[in-house]
Amino acid sequence: MKKKLYFGSNLKMYKNVAQTIEYLGRLQELTADLDRDVFTTFIIPSYTSLDRASGLIDQNLILLGAQNMCWEEQGQFTGEISPLMLRELGLKIVELGHSERRHVFGETNEMMNLKVKAALSHDFIALLCIGETGEEKDFGVSDEVLRTQLIMGFRDVSPAYIPKIWVAYEPVWAIGVNGKPASSAYAQEKHHVIRETLKEIFGEEGASIPVLYGGSVNPGNANELIVQEDIDGLFVGRSAWDAENFNALIRDAIRTWRENEA
Ligand code: PGA
Repeated sequence: MKKKLYFGSNLKMYKNVAQTIEYLGRLQELTADLDRDVFTTFIIPSYTSLDRASGLIDQNLILLGAQNMCWEEQGQFTGEISPLMLRELGLKIVELGHSERRHVFGETNEMMNLKVKAALSHDFIALLCIGETGEEKDFGVSDEVLRTQLIMGFRDVSPAYIPKIWVAYEPVWAIGVNGKPASSAYAQEKHHVIRETLKEIFGEEGASIPVLYGGSVNPGNANELIVQEDIDGLFVGRSAWDAENFNALIRDAIRTWRENEA
C-alpha cells in the first residue's frame, strides 16, 4: 500500500515571471487544504521565475525546484547554474535528466551521475528523470535502457541519501505534443523494473524511493495510472499548466486512489 502520493509539474520553457507567479499563487490557494503529510505537490518553473516564486510561495505547501543544474559550484561554465546559486533561493528540488535535456541538449548518463551527486551533497531532492526512446522500445531494450540510466545515474550514491531521491519514469515517446501516453499496464510494468533496480542499487530500502510517471498524463488517464501498484505519483506537463485544471486532476486522482485503497 502506498502511503504518500506525489503530484508535480515542470513548466519547461513556458510562462513568464508574472504568469508563473499568478499560476503558483492560484495553485497554492486551490490545493491549500490537501494533507501534505500524504500528498506532496511541487512545481518546477523557469530559472527566471525562481527568485520571486521562492519569496512568495510557501514550500510547506508547494515545493519548488529547478529544471537543471551544473555539477560544479563555480567556474568557467558559461550559461550554467550552480548548486550554490539554487541553494541561495531556498529551492528544495533539482530535476535532472529530463528527456529534453538528454535528447535535445545531449546530456549523458555520466553527467547525470555528477549532477545527482552534486544535488544530494547540496541537500536538494534529486529528481532523476529516465525513459526509453521509441526506437529503444521497438528494439525491445527498454528495461536495459532504464536499468542503465539508474545504475549509471546513481553510481557511488550512498543509501543514506535515499530520503532525498525521487525518480520520474518518462518514456520519451510519451512526452509532449507528439507524445502518445503509455498505457497504465505498460507504465506499471516499467515502474516495477525501476523499483527492482533501485533495490538492487540501494538494497531493500531502495523500494521506498518514490517513482513518478510522466508523459502525456491527462484527466483521461491520471486515475488509472495513480492506482497502479508501483506508481507513486504523476509528473504532469501540459495538463498541469492551468491551476484549475491541475487541481481538478489531482483531486480526481486522490479520490480514485482512496476508493481503490478502501
Ligand atoms: P507532457 O510533459 O505531460 O506535456 O507530455 C511531460 C514531461 O515532459 O514531463
